[in-house]
Amino acid sequence: MPYLEITGLGKRFGSADVLHDVSLTLNQGQILSLIGPSGGGKTTFLRCLTFLETADRGIIRLNGETLFDAAQKKAKGKRPRQQAFGLVFQAFHLFPQYTVLENVALAPALAKKGTKEALRAKALTLIEKVGLADKADSYPNTLSGGQQQRAAIARALAMEPDVLCFDEPTSALDPLLTKEVLNVIRLLREEGRTMIVVTHEMTFAREASDQVAFLFGGTVAELGTPKEIFETPRTEALQRFLQQ
Ligand SMILES: Nc1ncnc2c1ncn2[C@@H]1O[C@H](COP(=O)(O)OP(=O)(O)OP(=O)(O)O)[C@@H](O)[C@H]1O
Ligand SMILES: [Mg+2]
Repeated sequence: MPYLEITGLGKRFGSADVLHDVSLTLNQGQILSLIGPSGGGKTTFLRCLTFLETADRGIIRLNGETLFDAAQKKAKGKRPRQQAFGLVFQAFHLFPQYTVLENVALAPALAKKGTKEALRAKALTLIEKVGLADKADSYPNTLSGGQQQRAAIARALAMEPDVLCFDEPTSALDPLLTKEVLNVIRLLREEGRTMIVVTHEMTFAREASDQVAFLFGGTVAELGTPKEIFETPRTEALQRFLQQ
């Protein structure tokens, strides 16, 4: 049984059928890259998965448990399923009035995940993991984009998500800072984290993912290993996308 199983996910905005029949599976400890042209539905998919949007159709199962079933929206409690998926945004979205340490420790404190001391110690461990030990007491506006994104990754990890999702985590960064952030994602992969990464970094998708999904026109037009997707693309849409 796959760890994450998404079946027939659909989302409309008004009359626009933005996502339809998106089905995917992912094993624990694997990394799935989502690629595709602008407007293909990548962000909408991640927002449905992280419950920032409510899908109109489909089922999301994690580790054998149904977290979401559009047919019976009210069946499950809200908090646990929200915490199953973490999300790291393109534009970091750190709280500007808080230090890195406060940004990382805030949500677990609100969720009463431990004593203040324990949460602080855990936050510092995560901050160290992303290479920001010397920036724990700095404010976001004094950090580089790459440092801010790494702080945002530590913040997402602090909620102990089962699956960590990233929406174009490096597209606001220059190549050097991109490398810093991708190295952190690679490190998390070595630790066995299950991750979904929307990315325009084709080298990263090719080298670091177990599966690649090509989202086109609101659906998974192709799904395969990096080798299959990049070396033998089947659809014309993917062939065109890769040639850009
Ligand atoms: N809240 C919304 N209301 C109406 N339409 C929306 C909404 N959010 C997204 N859309 C539409 O859904 C489609 C998919 O958008 P989405 O942001 O998911 O694409 P994307 O693949 O993430 O694109 P990009 O690569 O540019 O980030 C687009 O046509 C977009 O205009
Ligand atoms: Mg997007």
